[in-house]
Amino acid sequence: MTRKFNFGAGPATMPKAVLEEVRQELLDWKGIGLSVMEISHRSPEFVEIANQAESDFRDLLDISDSYVVLFLHGGATLQNAMIPLNLSSEGGTADYIDTGHWAKRSINEARKYTKVNIAASSEDRDFTYFPKQSSWDVSKNTAYLHVTPNETIGGLRFKDLKESEVPIVADYSSAILSEVIEVNKFSLIYGGAQKNIGPAGLGFAIIKKELLGKAQSITPTMLNYSEMHEHKSMYNTPPTFAWYVAGKIFKWLKSMGGVSEMEKLNNKKAKKLYSFIDQSDFYENKINKEDRSIMNIPFQLNNEDLNSRFLEESRDAGLLALKGHRSVGGMRASIYNAMPEEGVDALINFMRTFEKERS
Ligand SMILES: Cc1ncc(COP(=O)(O)O)c(C=O)c1O
Repeated sequence: MTRKFNFGAGPATMPKAVLEEVRQELLDWKGIGLSVMEISHRSPEFVEIANQAESDFRDLLDISDSYVVLFLHGGATLQNAMIPLNLSSEGGTADYIDTGHWAKRSINEARKYTKVNIAASSEDRDFTYFPKQSSWDVSKNTAYLHVTPNETIGGLRFKDLKESEVPIVADYSSAILSEVIEVNKFSLIYGGAQKNIGPAGLGFAIIKKELLGKAQSITPTMLNYSEMHEHKSMYNTPPTFAWYVAGKIFKWLKSMGGVSEMEKLNNKKAKKLYSFIDQSDFYENKINKEDRSIMNIPFQLNNEDLNSRFLEESRDAGLLALKGHRSVGGMRASIYNAMPEEGVDALINFMRTFEKERS
C-alpha cells in the first residue's frame, strides 16, 4: 500500500513510524492481552503512559516547574471559553490581537465572559500581515493579551515575541513543536492536538502556576484549569487513545533531534515551496514575506477557473487536501512536522508540471 501525502490543515498527517508502532500494539499492548483503548485511565499502565507523555512534552519545549501541563478534551475551541473564564472576569478586560479566522473565533467566545479590547488588527489589509508588537495598544489593567502565533487559514505567523508585562496567552494549535519557543515569555500556551501532536480529541495547555485558582464562580468544573490540574487532567475519563498516540509522537520528535531540528527542517520545506511560488507568475502567496507561516502555505492560481482541475489532478497524483479554506480561496499546503520533505518536493513537481501544461 502506498501512503499518500496529506496536506490537510488537520487532522493532519502523522509520522508513518508512529502509525506502524500503534498498529503493532493495537491488539495487545505490551503483552497485557488488551488494547491500550481498553484499559482504565486509572490503571498504573495508563498513568505511566500519561506521565511519560507529559515528561517528554516538557523536555521538548523545555517547560519549567513554574508551569503546569494539562491534556484536555475539547481541542483549542473549548479553551477559547476557558481562558476568559479562568483568567478574567465579567467586568474585567482582556486584550486580543485580531489576525483572522482563528483569532476572531477566540475573540467572539471571550466576549461572552469578559470585556474584550482589540489591541491590534490586520483586517485593514485582509489579514495579510501580523501587526508589529510595537503597535499593540494594550488596555490598562488587562487580564491578559491573546495572540494566535500561527493563523492556520490565512497562513500568517508571529515570531520573536518580546518580553511583556501583560500575561501573554497564545493559541499555538498549528505551530506547537514546529519551532523553538521560549515558554517563559508566555503565561498560557494552548491548542488542539490534531496538527503536530496527535489524533483529534485532545487539547493541551501549558499554564503559569500563578494564574491558577482565579476562575469565575460560574466556571464549569470541566473548564476550570485548577480543577483539571488537581485531578491530573483526569477529572473524568480523558481521551486515552489520543493521549497515548501523542506520547508516541513526542518520542518520535525526540528521535528526530527535538524541536530545534524540526524547526530547521520546517524552514527548509517552507523555503522551498515559497521560493517556487515566488518565482512563478502562475501561483501567488499574498502574505507579507516576513510574516509567512512555515506550517500553512496558502496560494492562489492566477486563473481561478483552473482550481477544480488543480485539485482533481493533484488528488490523482497522491497529493491530498490542498483546497484552501473558503474564506481565502485557492489552495493551501499544510506542511506540519510529519510532512516529509519528499512530500513538498512532490507538490512542487506537480505544480511545475501543471503550470507548464497550462501556460
Ligand atoms: C489556530 C487554530 N486555533 C483553533 C483551532 C480549532 O481547533 P479545534 O478544532 O481543536 O478546536 C484551529 C483548528 O484548525 C486552529 O488552527
